[in-house]
Amino acid sequence: MRLLVTGGAGFIGSEYVRELLRGTLPTAAPTAVTVLDKLTYSGNLANLEPVRDDPRLQFVQGDICDAALIDDVVRGHDVIVHFAAESHVDRSIEGAAPFVTTNVLGTQTLLDAAHRHGTGRFVHVSTDEVYGSIAHGSWTEDWPLAPNSPYSASKAGSDLLALAYFRTHGLDVVVTRCSNNYGHYQYPEKVIPLFVTNLLDGGTVPLYGDGGNIRDWLHVKDHCRGIALVQDKGRPGEVYHIGGGTELTNRELTERLVEACGATWESVRPVPDRKGHDRRYSLDITKISQELGYAPTVDLVTGLAETVRWYSDNRIWWEPLKG
Ligand SMILES: NC(=O)c1ccc[n+]([C@@H]2O[C@H](COP(=O)([O-])OP(=O)(O)OC[C@H]3O[C@@H](n4cnc5c(N)ncnc54)[C@H](O)[C@@H]3O)[C@@H](O)[C@H]2O)c1
Repeated sequence: MRLLVTGGAGFIGSEYVRELLRGTLPTAAPTAVTVLDKLTYSGNLANLEPVRDDPRLQFVQGDICDAALIDDVVRGHDVIVHFAAESHVDRSIEGAAPFVTTNVLGTQTLLDAAHRHGTGRFVHVSTDEVYGSIAHGSWTEDWPLAPNSPYSASKAGSDLLALAYFRTHGLDVVVTRCSNNYGHYQYPEKVIPLFVTNLLDGGTVPLYGDGGNIRDWLHVKDHCRGIALVQDKGRPGEVYHIGGGTELTNRELTERLVEACGATWESVRPVPDRKGHDRRYSLDITKISQELGYAPTVDLVTGLAETVRWYSDNRIWWEPLKG
């Protein structure tokens, strides 16, 4: 099986590639893996360093919006796992154009090429943020999409396009929608690595609004296991949720990170709330659990402790990124 992984030099995509090549994911070992990545600020070849010498790995630097390149790269691959995206909500509030270009047009360019070349399976990695915010209960996969940020709106556009290529063209598409990921190799602009690296440096951390926004936390290893299950056994045209099973307010998360880094609450700096900040995300994961046997395996206490240790031990990875 020949796999094309877009965004494979980013946080989640690189974990997928590393674990695919190590043979630890619940899917058949690939004969070849092509990583296609533009290497934007969040793409980093150092993330692929542990598997750099694997002869099955090929890296192509390029943009998913480049139709000629994509046509060339997609040819000959059996499966596409599509991670490439502009991924940071705060940046989308500052400027939405790259989000619409990469997330919507780039995904459509890939889908067109996959359709043209008869790609066997297209796994589209989406997000729980496409649903907006939920006060009580949890979203099921048939919930209407109501995104609030330019990021989540662009992801909703790409998510719906992917499903449209299944319905219109019969392309074998599966969509995953996951909760907030954390773990090693995450670019230090997202809340957990930002807070951990600031605290390890003796700095302060910005807590939005009243700190009451709730997120479900999913370790990147569990996310990649879920994606592999969907890649192998998901039904064509279906959406699958991948969640971590631990909801925390941002304040509770901050308390845990402050403690894990040996800091005090003095390091926490309240800042005005993010514009349009979704209050709560919550995914129902019954479908993937019952159909594909998925369950999260990394509990948050262990996962956070390992993550803090990794950032503490790998300054060489993140210090250049923080400038
Ligand atoms: N991190 C999370 O908590 C989370 C949660 C839900 C969904 N997701 C989704 O998972 C996917 C991966 O997220 P991540 O956290 O690893 O993001 P990331 O920002 O770490 O990685 C994105 C990667 O895509 C590449 N890229 C960006 N634009 C590109 C383009 N035009 N052409 C080719 N490559 C391009 C970047 O260089 C980078 O390597 C995204 O689709 C994101 O929306 C992430």
